[in-house]
Amino acid sequence: MSPVSGSGANPLRDPADRRLPRIAGPSGLVIFGVTGDLSRKKLMPAVYDLANRGLLPPGFSLVGFARRDWEHEDFAEVVHDAVKEHSRTPFREEVWQQLIQGMRFVQGTFDDDEAFERLRATIGELDKAQGTGGNFAFYLSVPPRSFPVVIQQLKKHGLADQSSGSWRRAVIEKPFGHDLASAEELNKVVHEVFEPDQVFRIDHYLGKETVQNILALRFANTMFEPIWNRSFVDHVQITMAEDIGIGGRAGYYDGIGAARDVIQNHLLQLMALTAMEEPASFGADALAAEKEKVLGAVRLPKDLGSSTVRGQYAAGWQGGEKVIGYLEEDGIDAKSKTDTYAAIKLEVDNRRWAGVPFYLRTGKRLGRRVTEIAVVFQRAPHSPFDTTATEELGQNAVVIRVQPDEGVTVRFGSKVPGTSMEIRDVSMDFAYGESFTESSPEAYERLILDVLLGDANLFPRTEEVELSWKILDPIEQYWDKHGRPAQYKSGTWGPVEADEMLARDGRSWRRP
Ligand code: BG6
Repeated sequence: MSPVSGSGANPLRDPADRRLPRIAGPSGLVIFGVTGDLSRKKLMPAVYDLANRGLLPPGFSLVGFARRDWEHEDFAEVVHDAVKEHSRTPFREEVWQQLIQGMRFVQGTFDDDEAFERLRATIGELDKAQGTGGNFAFYLSVPPRSFPVVIQQLKKHGLADQSSGSWRRAVIEKPFGHDLASAEELNKVVHEVFEPDQVFRIDHYLGKETVQNILALRFANTMFEPIWNRSFVDHVQITMAEDIGIGGRAGYYDGIGAARDVIQNHLLQLMALTAMEEPASFGADALAAEKEKVLGAVRLPKDLGSSTVRGQYAAGWQGGEKVIGYLEEDGIDAKSKTDTYAAIKLEVDNRRWAGVPFYLRTGKRLGRRVTEIAVVFQRAPHSPFDTTATEELGQNAVVIRVQPDEGVTVRFGSKVPGTSMEIRDVSMDFAYGESFTESSPEAYERLILDVLLGDANLFPRTEEVELSWKILDPIEQYWDKHGRPAQYKSGTWGPVEADEMLARDGRSWRRP
């Protein structure tokens, strides 16, 4: 497969056929913060993988903007190394040679007007040399404090201007603010320069295949939706567990913590997709409208002390290795109160979900890396079996395994073979790896492609971001005023307080 042009109508291609590959038209991507980790590990490899899959136009251009004193060739070498180390698909020289034609580097700081003029000139040069047609996306992979200056510079130098008929888009990485007020402020800054349909806010969980599959599972089938409500569901558990610590990210993480880092965005998005009504279409507006209804209907329990838990990892053992605690990590204040674990209980105040708790938890340095959504069903209202027969029977569950072992598990009771009646939990598994030959693209491949295509379905809107902060703000404020995070040993499943929180409701966390 070689890179194919997005332009030029193919008479055999029916644009309504959603199975056909979607290929980006003439365009380029400018990355601010190109020397950062995200760019090296995710963005550059994703661009290469898209090119390798033939989903980028032949003249696709990649521009890096940073302070380093690099020539174009130095930048190309950095991209090359990142691609070799982190790309999902095999390295092919012919794809690389084509991609490198459109690579440029612009040296400068964010407040440097001349640098932005050079960027403008570079884009003009690429339009001529590569046929990018003036269509550029600006990827802000920069700390939030730099968002306003970059956005303002784009405006000042005419880079956000679409009046010539070409498109300009802004891609904004999380964290989108650190509370509601800062998110609103940021939204104001962004929307002074870009129209809503020019702004793409990244929540990379929405780019994951398994997350998109929530919609397929719920709305393409008949067997799940009739029981997906308060009449049958006992509770929902959404877990995002990581085995890694904070690594070299002290500067970003300390003071932010687990809840702001991933509950405000990834976990609340998973919850919204799990709880929402069927959208009128899968267009961006219809989808967002349904997710917003869920987020707007979320109710916090009155007593935040007994329905939220935060923790901080202490030293322990992880994968056979001794690891240090959070407070001993490089760059962390020894008195830091930052949460590396957070568990919260929420309810969705609507007819479908009234009274059904949604338990969300996340943590670093937990037992293993796993993200899943478990919809746990009520026990049968009546059992014709002897109580001893069902002693080992748990609750039925549908578990959406987001990662790493992608798939869906349905858990139910079954008779143990033998002459007596004994019922035990068994499970039926769907695994992506077994059912499909094609491997799943990385989330960033999907999201970058969607930006280039102008497809906003998988990007949270302003309202979603603000509604999510509205949920989290009171919890963060409560935590600020009350004590410190509980310590938990690295390699365990978090603080005992989290187990106690569920035990008070007569429930327990799954041990995935
Ligand atoms: C990011 C968080 O959004 O998601 C990180 O900032 C976290 O702290 C990462 O490690 C996890 O992403 P994934 O795709 O590996 O689950």
